[in-house]
Amino acid sequence: MALCRMDDLMIQARKQGIALGAFECWDSLNIQGIAQAAAKCKTPVIFQATAMEYTPIGGAEALACMVNFYIKRYDIDAALHLDHGNNLEQVDECLKAGFSSVMLDASIMSFEDNARLSAEAAKMAHAYNASCEAELGHVGGGDGGEGTESVLTVPEEAEEFVRRTNVDCLAVAIGTVHGDYKGKPELRLDRLAAIADKVSLPLVLHGGSGTPPELLQEAIRLGIAKINIYTDINKAFLAGIEDARSRLTPSLAGNFYVPVREALIAKTEELIKLFRRGQ
Ligand code: 13P
Repeated sequence: MALCRMDDLMIQARKQGIALGAFECWDSLNIQGIAQAAAKCKTPVIFQATAMEYTPIGGAEALACMVNFYIKRYDIDAALHLDHGNNLEQVDECLKAGFSSVMLDASIMSFEDNARLSAEAAKMAHAYNASCEAELGHVGGGDGGEGTESVLTVPEEAEEFVRRTNVDCLAVAIGTVHGDYKGKPELRLDRLAAIADKVSLPLVLHGGSGTPPELLQEAIRLGIAKINIYTDINKAFLAGIEDARSRLTPSLAGNFYVPVREALIAKTEELIKLFRRGQ
């Protein structure tokens, strides 16, 4: 059991007809909870963080230390991935810290600029024997629904993009959003099928939270091998804090952590099981 390249785990997942959960990490408590959920389910997992998440806990190196510790402690196979890298400096920082995968997110840029930067990130990742994710089209949302607008991935462009960049997995925009959906979630599964027809790489779905299970199942069947989750586990974590506050006296601060971690484990376990239901 070890830290693995993310694309290797995703290729294995595809062969089994499942997707892996990629869960955002923001502190040692939630990293431990994700590791425990993965161990309970006997399924590999992806730990991932943006610079906004790893900076407050001491940087990329601190995150890598925590993740490696819990991988060994719970004897799991896992990848550690930079989510939504903003620039090549962050990619470099994470690779040096020992991440097994990186994403340079240039999805709001032009096709040309996105392809150029993603190719550069892939080259850097491969020099460290790490894998690289890029996003084509744009998964919008975020910031309480006030964030960016989505732009669907064009299948023909996906084929050209993969050829030019040499990335190892591709995040596609097919109707999911980061954060809560404003209306009823509608996924363009026809679009996903057309992309999967043109691209043999494992595909990534951002904005997994709040997406109806039956749509996720169908997306997995069509080629999604990694599902990104933040909002769902964050809500469980915050509910755990409220629960702890209502029940416990603050005589020992550490006691508060137990129900918080338990709430996060339960939600993470539920999602991992959902993503491998087709197995
Ligand atoms: P959600 O917050 O919708 O789960 O999205 C998370 C995500 O895609 C992180 O990259």
